[in-house]
Amino acid sequence: MKSDSISKYRPFPAVTLTDRTWPDRVITEAPIWCSVDLRDGNQALPIPMSVEEKLEMFDLLVSVGFKQIEIGFPSASDTEFAFMRRLIEENRIPKDVTVQVLVQTRRHLIERTFEAIKGAHRVVVHIYNSTSTLQRRVTFGDASREDIKAIAVTGAEVVKELVPTIPETEVVLQYSPESFSDTELDFALECCEAVIEVWEPTPEKKLILNLPATVEWTTPNVHADQIEWMCRNVSKRDSVIISLHTHNDRGTGVAATELGLMAGADRVEGTLFGNGERTGNLDIVIVALNMNSHGIETGLDFSNLSSLREVYERTTRMTVPDRQPYAGELVFTAFSGSHQDAIKKGLDRRAKEEAEKWGVPYLTIDPHDIGRSYEAIVRINSQSGKGGVAYIIDQEHGYDLPKTMHPQVGKRVYDLADQRGEELSSEEVGKVFFEEFVNVSSEMVLEDYELDHSSGERGEVACRAVIARNGKQETVEGVGNGPINAFVQGLEKAGLKDFTLTDYRSHAVHGGSSSDAAAYVQLRKDDGSILWGVGVDPSIEMAGVKALVCAWNLLR
Ligand code: KIV
Ligand code: ZN
Repeated sequence: MKSDSISKYRPFPAVTLTDRTWPDRVITEAPIWCSVDLRDGNQALPIPMSVEEKLEMFDLLVSVGFKQIEIGFPSASDTEFAFMRRLIEENRIPKDVTVQVLVQTRRHLIERTFEAIKGAHRVVVHIYNSTSTLQRRVTFGDASREDIKAIAVTGAEVVKELVPTIPETEVVLQYSPESFSDTELDFALECCEAVIEVWEPTPEKKLILNLPATVEWTTPNVHADQIEWMCRNVSKRDSVIISLHTHNDRGTGVAATELGLMAGADRVEGTLFGNGERTGNLDIVIVALNMNSHGIETGLDFSNLSSLREVYERTTRMTVPDRQPYAGELVFTAFSGSHQDAIKKGLDRRAKEEAEKWGVPYLTIDPHDIGRSYEAIVRINSQSGKGGVAYIIDQEHGYDLPKTMHPQVGKRVYDLADQRGEELSSEEVGKVFFEEFVNVSSEMVLEDYELDHSSGERGEVACRAVIARNGKQETVEGVGNGPINAFVQGLEKAGLKDFTLTDYRSHAVHGGSSSDAAAYVQLRKDDGSILWGVGVDPSIEMAGVKALVCAWNLLR
């Protein structure tokens, strides 16, 4: 912003709470969760969900484990009313799930809401009125504190009057001083106390005080101070559930909620993936998975996050950004080489020490725990490291490359990614590996190979190989203490040995249905250059010989 624009703004007033305790607290248990996807989330959609879509979302929220779900604003539209009636009449609300309905503090709206909830076994009736200085001044035309408090009291009284009219329904009462985040704390408390006085909660029949950061005006520590102040000053604390409802205008809705929980709140309202007005509501997925990542059970099951995301994106027509914590497409993907190396080491170590607590560099949780696969963890572009390429070849194709071969293969893969200017898929990485490093027979082709175990002395073997070089066949014969050495001697006799065999490895190709063996031969040329070739064959001996031919060709 330009400075003449900045001068338009002022600092947010601090909360006078010098003996705050929340900074030293640690979250050790999950709050009561309430999903507001079908209300706050839905009201913020360019195309609101249809009744069918709301039903699908409701079932999804139930399957995740939400026990409190705000289903809408039944007095505000016929669709919302019809939706509530369908849930009740079609017996769609599980016994352990409480639906919540929002209504303004006006008699006719509250009456219509009670018509909508008739027949449900348990409902949270949630009333709200806006209390902030800004709203009092601008929206309500300089309304006084008394006028605003009276709105809350009138609403509370009407609700109290109507509760006995639906005796078969257990009604839980909730009040929100809307715009709490910029309401003077003493006045927010005054409104809450006035409602408490009307509703007379007890420890057995608690009411919910929901303290919304309707707009996130300031840093999360100020929100925490506000919540701690309310928790400490509200009367009948043991009869009141303090609930958080953060929005994300400054991008810190999650932090504000977490600090608010440290400050003493008992309950959290939010949405899947942070859908909601403007920048959205709190993303409950993030807060719950953050808790899981510290070993805290939450009662919410996000073990199949991708399928939740699919339903969410289809029914809301919103998209989850690639970088969204936990749910985003790229959040378990390491492009950087050093990150890939560290992840591979961490995963390898875990494979050996499964009982250990999670500890893989760069990954706060095990992607498998939310239904993501390791396949997506390492992706290859020109910035990637050799470890990442080796990881893909190992995990996706079954070849455990010798460490000193990683740079050789890695370089070819990055060069290709660089040349193309785009990321390579694991299939493309495999293609480079198989075409350029496995059974390469460019100049020398192995046409036939026979081994005679009986003719050699002291356990030596003799080989007779037919090779073609640039189309011309020749026979190579040699003796050695194994098939590869015998072939090396044959090449020497034919004047084709301009290398030293410096290393050899082999293993069975793992994964899939392959019963092939993979052999790796490292050759050093007289000029000092070193490289590896790979041979693949059902016979381990032939795999070794093919690896030698491959390396020989690659040296040219
Ligand atoms: O953000 C808000 O203040 C709300 C209230 C209605 C709870 O959504
Ligand atoms: Zn809201």
